[in-house]
Amino acid sequence: MSDAMNVDYDGLIPNNVGLNADPRLRRALESWHPGYLDWWQARGPEGFQKSLVYLRTAVGVDPEGWAKFGYVRMPEYRWGILLAPAVENRRIGFGAHKGEPAWQEVPGEYRAMLRRLIVVQGDTEPASVEQQRHLGRTAPSLYDLRNLFQVNVEEARHLWAMVYLLQKYFGRDGREEAEDLLRRRSGDQDTPRLLGAFNEATPDWLSFFMFTFFTDRDGKMQLHALSQSGFDPLSRTCRFMLTEEAHHMFVGQSGIGRIIERTCQAMRAAGIDDPDDVERVRALGVIDLPTMQNKATLHFSLTLHLFGSEISTNAANAFNASLKGRYREDQIEDDHRLTGDTYPVWRLKHGQIMREAVPALSSLNMRLRDDYVADAASGIERWWNRIIERAGIAFRFRLPHVAFNRRIGEFAAIHADLDGNPLSAEEWQRRQDECLPSTEDNLFIESLMRPVTEPGGFASWIAPPRAGIDGLPGNFEYVKLAG
Ligand SMILES: [Fe+2]
Ligand SMILES: [Fe+2]
Repeated sequence: MSDAMNVDYDGLIPNNVGLNADPRLRRALESWHPGYLDWWQARGPEGFQKSLVYLRTAVGVDPEGWAKFGYVRMPEYRWGILLAPAVENRRIGFGAHKGEPAWQEVPGEYRAMLRRLIVVQGDTEPASVEQQRHLGRTAPSLYDLRNLFQVNVEEARHLWAMVYLLQKYFGRDGREEAEDLLRRRSGDQDTPRLLGAFNEATPDWLSFFMFTFFTDRDGKMQLHALSQSGFDPLSRTCRFMLTEEAHHMFVGQSGIGRIIERTCQAMRAAGIDDPDDVERVRALGVIDLPTMQNKATLHFSLTLHLFGSEISTNAANAFNASLKGRYREDQIEDDHRLTGDTYPVWRLKHGQIMREAVPALSSLNMRLRDDYVADAASGIERWWNRIIERAGIAFRFRLPHVAFNRRIGEFAAIHADLDGNPLSAEEWQRRQDECLPSTEDNLFIESLMRPVTEPGGFASWIAPPRAGIDGLPGNFEYVKLAG
């Protein structure tokens, strides 16, 4: 076992980065800590700060047994700094520095670019906690409440992970950036979070599950790309974060899966075959499939904005600088420099939406986005459509074309239908309620959001899970509300 796998769990900040031997860093983190706790109290989960929550805490980085479960009051959660074990003699896998030993220190020429990458990633972590802070009040079960809080404390730990990098490697600028990560607020007029999708509201549990399915999946793609980084501390941090990210993805895909399952059961029991018979389905106290599709369409289209512009010099520069790779760069077979290559990108040409071959380096955002779309599509088939198929109901979830409902990038200039055919402004006005949640849909969903707080109870619109957490049953008291 390497040293890095031994976690110092005694101090204020559990870590495997040798905090005790680095007094300057320890002071920086300890002075950031109170502000962080204030942020958690003010902007983290509303209520429930005194409840005992059955949470997973990372206590090591060994893939076998890296976490332990137990009741914790959230403000007392042990947020720590954990890096995946170093890969011995790791070499940079792409870009201009391909083949050189991975950097243990920040390369001076790339300092600003690297800091920006870390800040942008870091900003999304507390943002999602802020977006989800009101959801505890309407949780459909204690099991789901616990999962929400698990996601929240882990996103907050991801903030710690990025703050560690900033404070350890970027001196005073890094400390200032770390403060700013606590200062910006999701949805705030004056000091919003950096990326649009992280300023949107997450008003209900259907939105929460869609967010963890679609938006946390963007997180997974970004972390994969950063885990390829030539800057080894960033790579190791992101590799460990990915183990936590997998749970967030699970919460989303299984959450929506359970809603679909409940809807299908209720439709079957009532003898309803037509998924479009929305009123009758809703009268059963479950969410109709078309409304779920429209929510998925909305979250997908908002999440696509996180991948940035179709053609991007920033992305090309970060790749050339060996700072941010492609999804699973180490499994791709090419020269990993891409200087003479092209890649097909969806573009707007003379009012038409078509694929165009552009230089591979400038289209890296789109490559990552294509990988994301494929990953989301296969999740939908495996997790959602299979449930509907088994229930024998004629309905399939699908993803819209990437040109649909875009606010930034090339397609912001036009309207398009779900298949990517251009629409006039009038047609769009007339038809958008068919593909996106209407006010009425949102009001219906809101009407279902009533908390269920007895152990083993579940709201009418969601099926219990197949299995509970940590080998426990679904009716376990995952959150002790009193106390
Ligand atoms: Fe995260
Ligand atoms: Fe996440």
